[in-house]
Amino acid sequence: MKFELYHTLLAALAAPAYATSPPTASFNNSISWTACEAGSPDGLHCGQLQVPLDWSKPHGEMITLGLMKLEATSKSEKLGSLMFNPGGPGGAATTMCKYQAAGVPFFGKPLTDHFDIICPDPRGVGISSPISCDASLWNHLPSLFPKNEEEYQRLLDTSKAFASSCLELSGDLVRHVDTMSVVHDIEALRLALGDGKLNWLGISYGTQVAAQYAATYPESIRSIVMDGNVDHTSTEIYTTNAEAATYEDELVRFFEWCSVTECCPLHGQDVSMLFLDLAAKADSEAIPAPGCLATANTSSAGSCRSNVTGEDIRFNVQGNSLLTHKDETAIALGWGLLGQALNESLQGNATLLSSGWATDNNSSLWQGLVIGCLDWYATTDSFAQNEYRQSLGNAIAPHTKGASQSYMLNTRCIDWPFKPKNLPGKMNETALRQAPPILMVNAEHDPESSFLWAQNLYAQMPSATLLTRQGDGHASYGNSGEAQAIIESYLVNLTMPAKNTIAKS
Ligand SMILES: *[C@@H]1O[C@H](CO)[C@@H](O)[C@H](O)[C@H]1NC(C)=O
Ligand SMILES: *[C@@H]1O[C@H](CO)[C@@H](O)[C@H](O)[C@H]1NC(C)=O
Ligand SMILES: *[C@@H]1O[C@H](CO)[C@@H](O)[C@H](O)[C@H]1NC(C)=O
Ligand SMILES: *[C@@H]1O[C@H](CO)[C@@H](O)[C@H](O)[C@H]1NC(C)=O
Ligand SMILES: *[C@@H]1O[C@H](CO)[C@@H](O)[C@H](O)[C@H]1NC(C)=O
Ligand SMILES: *[C@@H]1O[C@H](CO)[C@@H](O)[C@H](O)[C@H]1NC(C)=O
Ligand SMILES: *[C@@H]1O[C@H](CO)[C@@H](O)[C@H](O)[C@H]1NC(C)=O
Ligand SMILES: *[C@@H]1O[C@H](CO)[C@@H](O)[C@H](O)[C@H]1NC(C)=O
Ligand SMILES: *[C@@H]1O[C@H](CO)[C@@H](O)[C@H](O)[C@H]1NC(C)=O
Repeated sequence: MKFELYHTLLAALAAPAYATSPPTASFNNSISWTACEAGSPDGLHCGQLQVPLDWSKPHGEMITLGLMKLEATSKSEKLGSLMFNPGGPGGAATTMCKYQAAGVPFFGKPLTDHFDIICPDPRGVGISSPISCDASLWNHLPSLFPKNEEEYQRLLDTSKAFASSCLELSGDLVRHVDTMSVVHDIEALRLALGDGKLNWLGISYGTQVAAQYAATYPESIRSIVMDGNVDHTSTEIYTTNAEAATYEDELVRFFEWCSVTECCPLHGQDVSMLFLDLAAKADSEAIPAPGCLATANTSSAGSCRSNVTGEDIRFNVQGNSLLTHKDETAIALGWGLLGQALNESLQGNATLLSSGWATDNNSSLWQGLVIGCLDWYATTDSFAQNEYRQSLGNAIAPHTKGASQSYMLNTRCIDWPFKPKNLPGKMNETALRQAPPILMVNAEHDPESSFLWAQNLYAQMPSATLLTRQGDGHASYGNSGEAQAIIESYLVNLTMPAKNTIAKS
């Protein structure tokens, strides 16, 4: 059990995971601006930057970062560039620049007036050099809740075979898509833009990039917003259980809301009981998802599984972003859609709760997994331990049984042929003290980034102020509330809310 030993050793040393600064200035870092793909909206600029595959070898092999830019609408009031990350890991920032340019606004007027909005796709993601893996191995990965030794072994073997296919099809790139490499890329991009210090709006996973950036390049920062916080400083057990608990908490709040809210399709019923029955039914026999069939007349045709298990349901209420926004917004539909998903599933159509189905070897489905496996501990080392964790999940989260993104990484990344290189750990406190004031924002009831994660991270960021938002949903920028106005006023004017501020929306 080499891998177990490796982790035990690391835990025993409790070595702070500090990073060393790469020689960013010593390579040719100019952005080549190119035409965007045909049919792109006006005003969208596309660029590429070559960066070293391995930042410890700045003159070695190079890879391509793809980015998009929207120019500030007010030249005279321009403050600089604002870089954005939407989360994931694996989320493509360029998607949001495209939406914005196409007239579906995400970035508010104070931001588009004062900043060039820069949407860089992290390495391995979107229009940056892609992570290729064998789609058919991905599509046939087995349950993450094995019931016996044999199923556990099958989980390990198939996960390892999948990871080997990524190594075979993508080469060394898959060893270097960790977040610390992304942090160096962001610094290279900032220097290449030549537009002053960093302004950063990071949502969800984008907060991890931000925290690690602040601990590495504290003097390069003008402003950083960390919205919906990922705590990459703690033990795996804390990280996973806090996520399981916050997902369960938000799901239960949804059940209560749906029971008493007219527009929810299951209004007037015991929605908690309906959910448990539905998942149990899908455990014994998968529910069809006809909208996923390649022949279906839907936008999801061919891109999701045509049958949905109980495990799919437990993961995908979170994973398909059905709890992300309580109220409907321009980009995502609100909790009503989850009500519809459950209602349709109870009638035998579970399309909205289906897992992704990869149609080719460059699919975007696994990017987050590969990045996550380089960034997080996979501590499970035996079936007995996994069984223990399953029962812990049941205790903490009876509706979802502990299914969560962190649980997925802990069980899917075991013993991969390429090893983690940016494991969680204490950040460089000296550096973080040098950083200018940073704004953190977190909702009390966030289905993905736990309020507990935010508190623990906040305690380690001496220059940060944590703005709490009352209420539900993942992150706060984009829902046009009080928190969004505070974020915009900080990014534009560097106005910081008082400590202990609680925003009502
Ligand atoms: C740097 O890269 C740019 C764009 O790829 C290229 O035009 C330029 O010649 C390069 N400069 C050097 C010194 O290599
Ligand atoms: C994906 O990669 C596998 C392994 O190399 C290969 O067998 C398969 O043909 C590829 N699939 C596609 C759709 O290219
Ligand atoms: C819930 O599903 C039933 C059966 O398909 C359907 O008749 C009803 O309209 C749905 N309710 C809502 C509010 O969508
Ligand atoms: C199943 O549900 C999906 C998602 O709401 C919908 O697009 C599709 O038309 C439905 N299919 C059938 C056969 O009812
Ligand atoms: C697919 O659905 C659209 C809109 O619902 C409809 O206009 C179209 O005729 C349908 N196509 C087929 C092949 O059923
Ligand atoms: C489930 O759906 C997938 C494709 O979406 C298919 O390959 C598989 O055979 C189905 N399994 C069952 C048991 O129907
Ligand atoms: C996948 O990406 C690689 C690297 O960019 C490219 O060479 C290959 O053609 C792509 N394959 C498909 C099926 O798009
Ligand atoms: C921590 O940050 C300080 C200040 O930026 C720096 O001088 C020091 O080298 C860093 N320590 C490590 C171990 O990276
Ligand atoms: C920034 O400050 C100016 C001057 O006080 C004010 O007019 C403006 O509304 C502020 N901008 C934001 C986004 O809060």
